Amino acid sequence: MFTKDITTRFGEIETPFYYYNLDVLRDTLQACQNAAQKYGYHVHYAMKANFNPKVLQTIQSYGFGADCVSGNEVKAAIEYGFNKDKVVFAGVGKSDKEINLALDAGIFCFNVESVQELLVINDLAGAKGQKANVAIRINPNVDAHTHHFITTGLEENKFGVNVWQLPDVADTLRNCKNLNLLGIHFHIGSQITDLETFKTLCTRVNELSEWFEQKGFNIKVLNVGGGFGVNYYSPDHDNIADFEAYFKVFSDFLNVKPNQEVHFELGRALVAQSASLIARVLYVKNGLKKNFLILDAGMTELIRPMLYQAYHQIENISRLSVAGSQLSDKAIIYDVVGPICESTDCFRKDVELPESFRGDLIAVRTAGAYGEVMASHYNLRDQVQSVYSE
Ligand code: LLP
Repeated sequence: MFTKDITTRFGEIETPFYYYNLDVLRDTLQACQNAAQKYGYHVHYAMKANFNPKVLQTIQSYGFGADCVSGNEVKAAIEYGFNKDKVVFAGVGKSDKEINLALDAGIFCFNVESVQELLVINDLAGAKGQKANVAIRINPNVDAHTHHFITTGLEENKFGVNVWQLPDVADTLRNCKNLNLLGIHFHIGSQITDLETFKTLCTRVNELSEWFEQKGFNIKVLNVGGGFGVNYYSPDHDNIADFEAYFKVFSDFLNVKPNQEVHFELGRALVAQSASLIARVLYVKNGLKKNFLILDAGMTELIRPMLYQAYHQIENISRLSVAGSQLSDKAIIYDVVGPICESTDCFRKDVELPESFRGDLIAVRTAGAYGEVMASHYNLRDQVQSVYSE
């Protein structure tokens, strides 16, 4: 919740900017770490969700591993102090240059997405006289029941190896002397809030790890990916994702042998609640059918509403009462839009807000995941700035 004090501080800062509440971040990391430790689980932070330097430093300081999807993410993970033995490299299109970089860095494991990629990593590792650890990303054909743009585990998605291709994978692994099969990897989608979906995933992982064991492979790592969603309707501090409930599903439904490790790749659930996009009202346009609040931030700073029709809570934080709640003596319905020359540049239609004026500060909440990292320079916009709670 924002207070009058903080909005006074915001008044002196040029907008738009991302505001990071590091207390929320730390409390989230602590909650995840406590729950993971209870079950003996390993968590790699999915860096794609937010690679802001301060966020990375904070996450690294809690001892999390890093899940990377580009050579630059691998490089950044090492630079920011993540232990290389806890760095995994996933992604459907790793270039030779990126694979070489990760081999040189001595990362823990490549999450491999095709037979052809296995062959390439085998060759590149061989050329360096190395043996690369790999996990096979399997497409389990499980529907994540999330927005179709962020579903990844269906046959129709480009990710991973389909189940019918596994015999070919097994033959390839036997012939690739420079590869060491560590485990199997899954990631079925993002912003999954129905824990039943993860139960279904567990059933598929159980079947597939059994399949590999029966073929004579020793599966040491069961990497079940990320995807755990957050509550975008309630952005406050006390609404940190329920990691305990999430991990419990795996503890109850995943078959884990004594020598096996369970790995997770959480992005959104670790960082989403820790940031808000703070913008200013540039203009208020009252029309016959619509009232518009035109902000100085738009799809170039936070594209989620425009790309996935994602809901983010919007608050006018210049009109806070002393208790921090919105003043509601005169509420008006606005379409809250950005300045970009695209009709889709709208954060949300029909938002009820206190009557708002030019210069008011608007917070778009729960913007810590896939916010700043997906910003662009479209319309030759300035790079968005970041401000921290301390
Ligand atoms: N592991 C893999 C292989 C992934 O592809 C992803 C996310 C994650 C882990 C982390 O997922 P998370 O725990 O954050 O759900 N830009 C979209 C989300 C794209 C997710 C891409 N992959 C959004 O703003 O909703």
